Amino acid sequence: MEMNGSQPRENWGSKLAFIMAAAGSAIGLGNIWAFPTNAAANGGGAFLVVYLICVVLIGAPVMLAEFAIGRATQRNPVGAFKALAPKSGWKYLGGLGVVAGVVILSFYAVIAGWTVSYIFKCLAGTFKPGVDTAAIFEQMSGDPLNAIGYLAAFMALSVYVVVGGVRQGIERWTKVLMPILLVLLVLLGIRAVTLSGAGAGLAFYLKPDFSLINGKVILSAAGQAFFSLSLGMGTMITYGSYIAKKDDLVSSTLWVSTLDTAIAILAGLIIFPTLFHAGLGLQEGGPGMVFVVLTSLLGEMPPAPLGGIIFGTGFFLLLGIAAITSSVSLLEVGVAYIVDERKISRKKAGLFLGGLAFLLGIPSALGNGAVSWLTNLPVIGTDFLSFLFEVFGQYALAIGALFISIFVGWKWGVTNAAAEVELEGNAFRFHQIWSFLIKFVCPTVLIVILLNKVWTLIFGRGLI
Ligand code: PHE
Repeated sequence: MEMNGSQPRENWGSKLAFIMAAAGSAIGLGNIWAFPTNAAANGGGAFLVVYLICVVLIGAPVMLAEFAIGRATQRNPVGAFKALAPKSGWKYLGGLGVVAGVVILSFYAVIAGWTVSYIFKCLAGTFKPGVDTAAIFEQMSGDPLNAIGYLAAFMALSVYVVVGGVRQGIERWTKVLMPILLVLLVLLGIRAVTLSGAGAGLAFYLKPDFSLINGKVILSAAGQAFFSLSLGMGTMITYGSYIAKKDDLVSSTLWVSTLDTAIAILAGLIIFPTLFHAGLGLQEGGPGMVFVVLTSLLGEMPPAPLGGIIFGTGFFLLLGIAAITSSVSLLEVGVAYIVDERKISRKKAGLFLGGLAFLLGIPSALGNGAVSWLTNLPVIGTDFLSFLFEVFGQYALAIGALFISIFVGWKWGVTNAAAEVELEGNAFRFHQIWSFLIKFVCPTVLIVILLNKVWTLIFGRGLI
C-alpha cells in the first residue's frame, strides 16, 4: 500500500487485509492497558456494561460513518471534509484529528516503551514468584534515561514503519501474530480465573453495581470505546480511504468492533482476578497498574520459573507489536494530511510529526516517578500521562465523534452515506437502525455527557 496524493489511490490487497489493518489499529494498548485501568477507576462491572452499550450504540455506528467518509472521498480527514463540504469549517474537524493523533501518539509511545523494556525484563527472569512487581515498575518508570530512551526507541520504530515502506511486511506478520496474542491472552485468563481469591475479582468485574453509573462513568466508557476502536480522529477515515469499492463496509465494521471488544473483555478477565488474588487493591490504579498486576501473574505460570519467562516474554513482545500497528495509524493521519494537502514527502512528514510527538512525550515519560510535579500535577492531581490520556484520548475523541456523527447524519446526509455503503450491489444491513443511531442517538448522548462534564468542571459535581 503506497500513499501518494497525486496518483490514483491504491487499495488494500483484499477485504481481509483491510480488516486486519483496521483491527491492527484498533487492538493495542487501548484494550490491554487502558480498558482495565479505566474499568478499575469506574466501578468495574458497571463500567463494563456501559462500555458494551457504548460500543454497540455509538462506537460501531461512528466506525461505519468514518469508513464511508474515507472511501467516498479517498482522502485524509482534512481533505475528506473539504471534499464533502467545500468552503466550510468542517475541515477543522479533520485538523482536530491530526492534532489528537500526535498528542495521543506522544503518550502512547511512552507506554509502548515500557512494554518493550518489559520484554527484556521477562527474558531475564525478573518476575519470579513473590517479587515486588510494584517496586520493579516504579524503578523502571522512575528512571529518566530509561523512560526517555524507550520512548525514543519506540517512536523511531513507528516512524520507520510509516515512512520506510515496511508496512506490508508488518501486515503480513500481524495476520500470524495477533491470533497468537489471542491464544496467550486466553491461557493467561484461564490461569487468572483459577487463582485463589479470583472470585472477588470476577465479582467486581462481572457483577455490575448499577448504582455506580453516573455521567462520569458514561463519559469514560464512551471515550474508552472511541479510543479502543480508533474513532473520533479520522484514523478510520484514513484507513477507509484505501478500501476497495466492492468491499462490504458493514461486515468490516462488525468484525473490527467485535474483535476489539473481545480482547478488551479478556484483558479484564486477566487483570481483575489477579489484582484481587495478589491483594494489590484498586487504589493502586494509574498508568502502572496493568504492568504491576500482569507481571504478578507471571510468577504463577507453570512450570516455574520457565512458564513465567515464556508467557511474559511472548506477551510483552506481542503487545509491543500490537502497539506498533496502532501507533502507526495514529501517525498516519497526520502524515496522510501533510502528504496530500501540503505536498511534502512522506519521509519529511513522518520525521517531523514523529519528532514532535517525541518531544511532547517527554513530560509523560518523566511523570511516572522521575519528576515529582509531573507525577502529581498541581491543581489537576494526576500524573501528566493520565491527564493527556483523559483530555485527548477520551474527551477530544468524544468531541470528534460527536461532530462526525452530526456531519454524517445532518450535513453529508445518511442517504449519501448509504449510497456509498451500497456500492457495487452490497446490501446495507441495519440501514434504518444505523441512520437512527447516527442522526439522533450518538449526538444526543455525546452532547449530554460532554455538557455534564463542563457542568462538573464549573460547579464541582455533575447533573447525572
Ligand atoms: N485503538 C488504539 C488502541 O486501542 C489506539 C488508537 C486510538 C489508535 C485512536 C488510533 C486512533 O490501542
